Amino acid sequence: MKTVMSGIQPTGDLHIGNYFGAVQNWVRLQETYRCYFCVVDYHSMTIPYEPAKLRENTWKMAFQLLACGIKPENLFIQSLVPEHAELAWILSCVASYGELTRMTQFKDKAEQLKEKDKDVLISAGLFTYPILQAADILIYHAHYVPVGKDQEQHLELSRNIAQRFNHQYGRDYFPLPEPLFTETPKILSPADPARKMSKSLGEKHYINLFGEEAHIRKQIRSAVTDTGDAPPGQMSPGVANLFEILRACGQIDAYNVLMADYHAGKLRYSQLKETVADALAALTTALRERLQHLEAEKKKVKAQLEASSAVIREFARKTLREVREIVGLTSLKA
Ligand code: AMP
Ligand code: TRP
Repeated sequence: MKTVMSGIQPTGDLHIGNYFGAVQNWVRLQETYRCYFCVVDYHSMTIPYEPAKLRENTWKMAFQLLACGIKPENLFIQSLVPEHAELAWILSCVASYGELTRMTQFKDKAEQLKEKDKDVLISAGLFTYPILQAADILIYHAHYVPVGKDQEQHLELSRNIAQRFNHQYGRDYFPLPEPLFTETPKILSPADPARKMSKSLGEKHYINLFGEEAHIRKQIRSAVTDTGDAPPGQMSPGVANLFEILRACGQIDAYNVLMADYHAGKLRYSQLKETVADALAALTTALRERLQHLEAEKKKVKAQLEASSAVIREFARKTLREVREIVGLTSLKA
């Protein structure tokens, strides 16, 4: 069985873009692959953050992923497997300074941070972020990494690091990981459908997957439809986004009927919105209930995740024992 690995930062609440664009796909992959899904709290330290909030958001993300259908045995918290950090150090001596300077995400993030605060500290961790990501992947000898297109460059770097490691130490130790670009919908902001749904744009721009039903309905009702800037005869992005959400919710029949109405020129946006709101309400109500069940047993669920992290850690330790041997470090006793 091939191995899949992916990570997500503990950014607080998941929004429907994260769900339809990534998490739903992860849930499906569990049927076919040995999966390692990870809440990457070490990565979240690369930009300014609050310690208490980081810990809170890490558990929050883990619970929300479980509610979405990630199996507890496939889920863990990155920093509960500190071997990731050790492997990152070793790989940082294999990665080159030059290739890191070409990472566009570093440049983008550093710029964004400076725009907000010109005196902000740009950490060395932000610069070496992709090496830690390579360690996350290689430590499990992963074959496939489901990610969005924005992570393509980081994946390329992970492959290069694996290849150079294998070459430098004269053995085929790490499989070269490949990105898995599954076709997943890209969800746009309901308030500004020219942009991707994202938390960083502000409250109106994302729909919380675990939000209150009334609020979700309100956001759909007030979603921007026609901005008047779509070329004649072309569906405006706001309307296309509502259709996309409807399809992502699995409402194919309703989608087809309303799409036929649209092409016949008799679609009422109010009806489209109503149908989308109903579909999202059904989905999110089920997810919210699952989350409530998990939260009612918080202690037990946390212990379960700690246990799965410990099991996964055993695999990571085995990799580190082998890597330490290969690269010439002294053996650790016990
Ligand atoms: P982020 O925290 O923004 O990196 O998102 C985590 C995951 O959700 C990534 O795999 C993204 O590709 C995915 N994602 C984020 N925003 C959207 C969106 N608006 N539509 C679809 N997928 C998204
Ligand atoms: N950098 C990824 C992102 O921003 C998150 C991530 C960290 C990741 N480690 C990973 C993704 C390992 C895939 C595999 O989305």
